[in-house]
Parts: sequence; structure tokens; C-alpha cells
Amino acid sequence: MTDTFLVDIVAGLTRSPKTLPSMYFYNKAGSKLFQTIMQLPEYYLTKSEYEILDTQSKDIYNDFNPHKKFEIVEFGAGDGSKTKLLLKEILNHTEDFIYSPVDISDTALKGLTQSFEKELPKLNLNPINDDYFSALDELKSKSTTKLVLFMGSNVGNFKDDGEIDFLKKMRANIRGGDFALIGFDLKKDPRIILDAYNDKSGVTREFNLNLLRRINEELGADFDVPSYEHYPTYNPISGEASSYLISLKDQTVRFSDKVFEFKYGEPIFMEISKKYSDTDITELAESTGFEIVKNYYDCKHYFVDSLWRAI
Ligand code: AVJ
Repeated sequence: MTDTFLVDIVAGLTRSPKTLPSMYFYNKAGSKLFQTIMQLPEYYLTKSEYEILDTQSKDIYNDFNPHKKFEIVEFGAGDGSKTKLLLKEILNHTEDFIYSPVDISDTALKGLTQSFEKELPKLNLNPINDDYFSALDELKSKSTTKLVLFMGSNVGNFKDDGEIDFLKKMRANIRGGDFALIGFDLKKDPRIILDAYNDKSGVTREFNLNLLRRINEELGADFDVPSYEHYPTYNPISGEASSYLISLKDQTVRFSDKVFEFKYGEPIFMEISKKYSDTDITELAESTGFEIVKNYYDCKHYFVDSLWRAI
């Protein structure tokens, strides 16, 4: 892990503009901070998707029901608190399925396992501690009907339209007639979106700065963390919510025999969280080999879980 971590961080800081991969946010401290983010009043995403699964899990199950043994694979399951609602509903009908949550955060998966073993004792649980791309291969070996879960707006975190490539790869590794349930954060009043990534209590700021701390701890870097400031933006045309860390002075960072210079005001591109319109979602399904079975919205139309069938 440390090896790829070092390679990825060095590659990101060598690029122009400097970039750090947001998949590395989720060490122990980062996973805890994200748990706190999910409870922030400004962070509507979790609440909206929770409402969808709380009120429409039965519909989702009925629309997906393959009437035979199946397997659910979830990419970026996190603590599984929302998925639990769907799994509970499915378990009311059948126990003949395997649930494989994939997450890069060991901490999150351990929490999920603990809570699911207690609350869903009948669930056939198969946790996988890995990143998305390795987990894609996992899909290929399965011959039963699959439901791939990709919830929580994780699909919005790919840079440079990478979600198209990722969904195409996912499609290539499943079979025609298999399903995917994908959570999209919808375009809306840009002020609501920006606030979600710029909370008053500063947790999102800490969440971003935590990656610099992690690099210091694990790679022996000497980032002076207070000399960087969180800078979130939202572009209501492209739908891209992006966060940057801005260097507050000219400074130098050293680790692993390398030297990185930061100019006063220079940004490090940290994370993209893309927002979609209904048309964007339809086009994305079409261009990646899926058809939309049904869209499930929350009452405010802030978020949608979109059920897709592989063509
Ligand atoms: C878990 C990646 C979907 O992009 O909204 C929350 C992460 N970043 N606040 C998102 C996040 C800042 C979150 N995802």
C-alpha cells in the first residue's frame, strides 16, 4: 500500500497543476471526518439518499428482483448505513444472495462488518478491502445475476470524465441483464451545493487538510499544514464541485529524496464531486452500455438512485 501511495502522491505533486488523489482521504482519521461530514446540516447528500432507501427500497427490490440466486457487489460501501435499509428489505423476501462490500478504508469496512453482523445476522457477508479498480476484476468471475451498487455520489469523484471509462469497464465485467444502482447528486441551486462542501464548522476543511497530515505521517513529508487553506468551488454549468488547498506562502516540502516548491496562492487540486442533470444521467447510461430501468428521487429532488440494466 505505502508503495503505490508514495508513487501516486509523487506523481500528483509533479503534475501541473499539482493534484492529490481524493481516494487517499480515507485513512482512519479521514474516515472519521467523513462520518462527521455525513451528519453536517449542510451535507444534504446522505440525508437525501437515506430518505430514498428508507421509503423506496421495496420498489427497488421489486424492479430488480431476478427471481433467482444473485450477488450484490457494492463499490465504496463505506459504513453501509444507507445500504442497510435496502438489504433489510431484500432479506424480508430472500436470503439466497451474497453481499460483497468493497471499500478502500479498512476502518469503514470493519465498522460495516460489526454493525451488519449484529443487525443483519442472516446476511451472507463478504467484505473486500480494496480499491474500485481491483474490485472490477472481482465482478468478472461471478456467474450469478449481479446488482452492482455504486451509491453516495461516489460516481462523481472521477477526474476528467473518468466515470465514463469506469462504467464501461464495469459493463464489460458483468453480463447483459445484470443491474447497477447508481447514486447521483443532482444539479440544483449552486449555493446549496457549495455550502455542502464549505460547512461552517470547518469539517470539510479538516477532511482535505488531513491528507497532508497523512502524507507527513506515512511518507515522512514535512508539510506545514496550517500554511494551506481549503478552497471549495462550484461551477453550475459543468456541475463540478472542486476543492483545492491553497498555499498561503512560498514554501518547500521534502520527502523521499524529493523537493516540491509551492508558490504563494498556488492551488493543489484535491477532489471533484460532480453533479448531474437528468439528461446527463440518461446520456451516461446510453454511452456506457446500460438502459435506465427507473429513477428513485428524494422528495426535494436533490439526489437520485438510478437503476440501470446492462444491455
Ligand atoms: C463520499 C466522495 C461522495 O464527494 O460528496 C464529502 C466526499 N468530500 N465532502 C462527496 C466528500 C467532501 C463525498 N463522497
